Amino acid sequence: MKHPIIDEALPFDGIEICLGSSCFARGNGDLLSQVQEMLKEYGLDNAISIRGRLCADGCSKGPHVTIDGIAHVGLGTEKVLDKIQGWCLEQIK
Ligand code: FES
Repeated sequence: MKHPIIDEALPFDGIEICLGSSCFARGNGDLLSQVQEMLKEYGLDNAISIRGRLCADGCSKGPHVTIDGIAHVGLGTEKVLDKIQGWCLEQIK
């Protein structure tokens, strides 16, 4: 299986989850599977890409998640899932 962490320098319009140890411990470790389930639920699992990234050098403000190029910092799992859900709903309009 291919490792989910890819070249972070490339522009990315999907969902990028920091999987560094601090963000992982602050909820991003569980977020990946929840996001995958949500995308499946909305039938977007083939339309929206998810990738992990290494530490974004902002651990104290984490967890870090980027949705469609917009960084969301320190929101926590529930709020991030709300944002992703809102974005999913916009995609299926
Ligand atoms: S682990 Fe995510 S910013 Fe450091």
